[in-house]
Amino acid sequence: MTVRPILIAPHPVLKRPAEAVGTVDAEVRQLMDDMLDSMHAANGIGLAAPQVGVLKQVIVVDVAGPDEPANPLCLADPEIVWGSPETVLGEEGCLSLPDQFADVVRSERIRVRFLDRDGGRREMDAGGLLARCIQHEMDHLQGILFVDHLSSLKRNMILRRLAKTRKQLAAAE
Ligand code: NI
Repeated sequence: MTVRPILIAPHPVLKRPAEAVGTVDAEVRQLMDDMLDSMHAANGIGLAAPQVGVLKQVIVVDVAGPDEPANPLCLADPEIVWGSPETVLGEEGCLSLPDQFADVVRSERIRVRFLDRDGGRREMDAGGLLARCIQHEMDHLQGILFVDHLSSLKRNMILRRLAKTRKQLAAAE
């Protein structure tokens, strides 16, 4: 159980593709557990390994609401085998872009194939917030942030706002 620091954009590691793990060994399982701790500590609903500086294809999600029991999911080498042609626009944020939000278009439903925490090969259907969250986290494995889905005008506005806030916070310390 270790909370690892989360990289903030812009950061070169966040732009790089992650490598497949192939099998879930003790090191990958430790990474998954640390990522869940890091995500929960930051009050996030999803986290991808590159966000903690590890370029491996591992994501964790937990979209349970505050009054629902925790439902942590660990996915290694995830692959979307089907995405619904129906898309939906919804607001997204990201622990690597703190306090920044924008609407992004995603498939409404997906089927994802992955290795679970025990290394078992699984396939899962997801809809709603879970489908959105998995698509967002899987983007990170290709070096894509949610702002990369926006117009350059909107993206630059968000990145400038984030940089300004970070500068103000640094100056206040
Ligand atoms: Ni993110």
